[in-house]
Amino acid sequence: MLYATLLTDLSEGILTATVNRPEKLNALNHQVMADLEMLMDEVAACADVKALILTGAGEKSFVAGADISEFLAADAAGASRMAQRGQDVFARFEQSPKPVLAAVNGFALGGGCELAMSCHLRIASESARFGQPEVNLGIIPGYGGTQRLTRLVGRGKALEWMMSGQMIDAHEAHARGLVNHVTSPKELLPESRKLLSVILSRSPTAIARVIAAVNASHDGRIDGFEEEVRLFGECSGTEDMKEGVTAFLEKRKPIFPGR
Ligand code: COA
Repeated sequence: MLYATLLTDLSEGILTATVNRPEKLNALNHQVMADLEMLMDEVAACADVKALILTGAGEKSFVAGADISEFLAADAAGASRMAQRGQDVFARFEQSPKPVLAAVNGFALGGGCELAMSCHLRIASESARFGQPEVNLGIIPGYGGTQRLTRLVGRGKALEWMMSGQMIDAHEAHARGLVNHVTSPKELLPESRKLLSVILSRSPTAIARVIAAVNASHDGRIDGFEEEVRLFGECSGTEDMKEGVTAFLEKRKPIFPGR
């Protein structure tokens, strides 16, 4: 599919989507948000897409935040609508049953950090910089950052980073659990593909249920433990489960049908 602000490339089941506004450090304007939403429609609908890597164009930035030039036009109701839309679009990444990995190649600030946090996995290049600098603008994170950063790094560091607006380098982000791995800029995409290839060799129906069960841990409407019991039960009806268990007993590698 063609997008106004995203470049996409599908190879061996992994769709790589690159936010492509390098002259504005890939800031999220209305068009990028619309494209990200359509991207998740494509990921959901296309059987050839098994996993998604999200990255940014250029060497400098993953995504440097929501597009600040669009801020002054909004009144309180408009700003709330903007935050709700951002949260709704980013929830598509978090709730995708197919694995989504952010390959963070540079600045991941504000909405960029929030977008990376809504992905299931984050690999950062050594040049990556994270942060929630909204307080410099007199605003707060609005695309889920106050919630997801707190869950990922804990209340103490989340408050420090969001109140100071300071940038965090890739190694500190890794030490605090914000990113899964740090690599050289050159290895960023190969390492991202390598991790996803391992994941894609496992049962897709089980992976979708791992994602759903983990998401249930912070969904106030659902008891996560009950949801885990339900999802565990569902696994027993899948062809993947029959294949996985049979392959183990026959001492061979499973070939999961994904059903
Ligand atoms: N929204 C809109 N435009 C942005 C942007 C954003 N979030 N971040 C960067 N840009 C634009 C700049 O305005 C500049 O455009 P111009 O060349 O037309 O003037 C261009 O991208 C390059 O950015 P610049 O600031 O010149 O690069 P830098 O290397 O000096 O600084 C940053 C990089 C990331 C430190 C700086 O751009 C910055 O602080 N950006 C805002 C980050 C932010 O607050 N994000 C949260 C928003 S809620």
